[in-house]
Amino acid sequence: MDNRKIGVFDSGLGGLTVVRAMEELLPAESIVYFGDIARLPYGSKSKETITEFSHQIMRFLLQHDVKAVIVACGTASSNALEELQSTYDLPIMGVVEPGARAAAKATHSGRVGVTGTEATIRSGAYERLLQLEDKQTEVYAKACPLFVPLVEEGWFDDSITAQVITRYLAEIKENQVDTLVLGCTHYPLLRTLIQKEMGENVTLINPSRAVVEELRAYLQENQMQSSTQQGQYEFYVSDSTDKFQAFGRKVLEIPSLTVQKVNIEKY
Ligand code: DGL
Repeated sequence: MDNRKIGVFDSGLGGLTVVRAMEELLPAESIVYFGDIARLPYGSKSKETITEFSHQIMRFLLQHDVKAVIVACGTASSNALEELQSTYDLPIMGVVEPGARAAAKATHSGRVGVTGTEATIRSGAYERLLQLEDKQTEVYAKACPLFVPLVEEGWFDDSITAQVITRYLAEIKENQVDTLVLGCTHYPLLRTLIQKEMGENVTLINPSRAVVEELRAYLQENQMQSSTQQGQYEFYVSDSTDKFQAFGRKVLEIPSLTVQKVNIEKY
């Protein structure tokens, strides 16, 4: 048993989809969350910058006595995970590998669509991992940079969002995929509209849930689960806390959410 916290970080609010999955699948685990809203988006930044920001956040999280970290950001997972794993001596999980494994399991036709930020798609991480699972897999990837601001704006169910989705997904749809990876942790919040666009026969993969399922198995195997009844959550952001608080209330189940601002550049 290990009652230390799980560190979770994202460039902003998207990682709350991982916290949501933890509320459901690992309710006894405590979380310390960091959202880098002052420096969002990560998706348009270089690998070097994303890696440097991720190091700062890791150093911050390590001061909170964490037993494991989830990189709840597709962009940081696809650009910085290996470097983080080789630097810090604790389990660090990204969302890309669990997402790719879940997609490989779900597809019957071997035609898989992948959406993500520009930096995630540029990294080619999903293609690589999907083809590692099965060499025959055909991957159709598309960067959807406007999805993140639409989510941050809270436009989950809006006709403008629906139009943007139609435009970005047109090519993937033409390629008749049977599985679509929501390869940025913001995107599961657009799930209803994306499912409508793709049709009921396409399986949507939510890597935020897939990583929590893998974390649950890992904690069990290593007897690292928390022995408490109910986990405690702490939230930190790098800019004003109001928007995060309001957004968190919409996405999560927990009744009250306290958010503190930190100067991440100090770390
Ligand atoms: N939520 C982050 C991800 O999963 C991306 C948002 C951003 O571009 O910062 O990729």
